[in-house]
Amino acid sequence: MEPAQDLRELLAWYMEAGADEAIGEVPVNRYRAPDPVDRPTPTPTPTQPQASIPSPPDSFSSPPALSPSLTSTNNVMKSASELAAAANDLAALAEALASFDGCALRDTATNLVFADGNADSQVMIIGEAPGADEDRQGRPFVGMDGQLLDRMLASIGLDRSSSYISNILPWRPPGNRKPTPNEVTVCLPFLRRHIELINPKILVLVGGTSAQALLGVAHGIPRLRGRWHDYTGVERASEKASPIPAMPIFHPAYLLRKPGMKREAWRDLRKIRRRLDDLNEA
Ligand code: URA
Repeated sequence: MEPAQDLRELLAWYMEAGADEAIGEVPVNRYRAPDPVDRPTPTPTPTQPQASIPSPPDSFSSPPALSPSLTSTNNVMKSASELAAAANDLAALAEALASFDGCALRDTATNLVFADGNADSQVMIIGEAPGADEDRQGRPFVGMDGQLLDRMLASIGLDRSSSYISNILPWRPPGNRKPTPNEVTVCLPFLRRHIELINPKILVLVGGTSAQALLGVAHGIPRLRGRWHDYTGVERASEKASPIPAMPIFHPAYLLRKPGMKREAWRDLRKIRRRLDDLNEA
């Protein structure tokens, strides 16, 4: 086979596996043996006399330990919650996210995609995660999905100067795969703080991942969309968070694949318009 043909096939195979973007100038050989590290020489254990009853394994005598992965998830969650809570404004929150090393997506993403739009607006829109275009530009919803989202917003008189847009994840999952539950969990404290800082009157949850993560439910978007739900923020010891009305809608990526569902989506958007009008008349 021609070398060029070989290369084309290899590239096609990479793209199918989700590696559809060059993120560095120099290839990284992940199979290379790790550099030798200085390890302390183990001290020889003295030979134990034979006991008639075998001593219990260490884990029996010490308090029950969490598995290493659970412990590390707990630590990551703690660090995410502490970093998020300490951020007193949007710039500090963006900085806290950028410094957070508990989500491996940060290492494969080109940019942190924090938000776009008007931070003083009454409507906060939350999508799933950046795609390739968003990752490149560092702004949410700028690709094909974003163009449709803009048209959806325009149909109810909204645009990026009258709404504020962010995502469940601030970094692109490679190959646009679905975020894993662990990625969502570790990033959620930042988004909750983000919502708290924006303090919108209405939340629009774009797609199933967004609705499930913020409403804490497992139902799919067909069941959640089109009805008002209560998003309950983080309760502080001093104050009870008041719920924010949240409307789940179909994701524009889904509508691009199933244009027949646009009718339902537009019906949901009109509910958002009505609620906004009610708010502004009150
Ligand atoms: N899809 C999303 O959910 N968010 C984006 O920012 C872009 C596409």
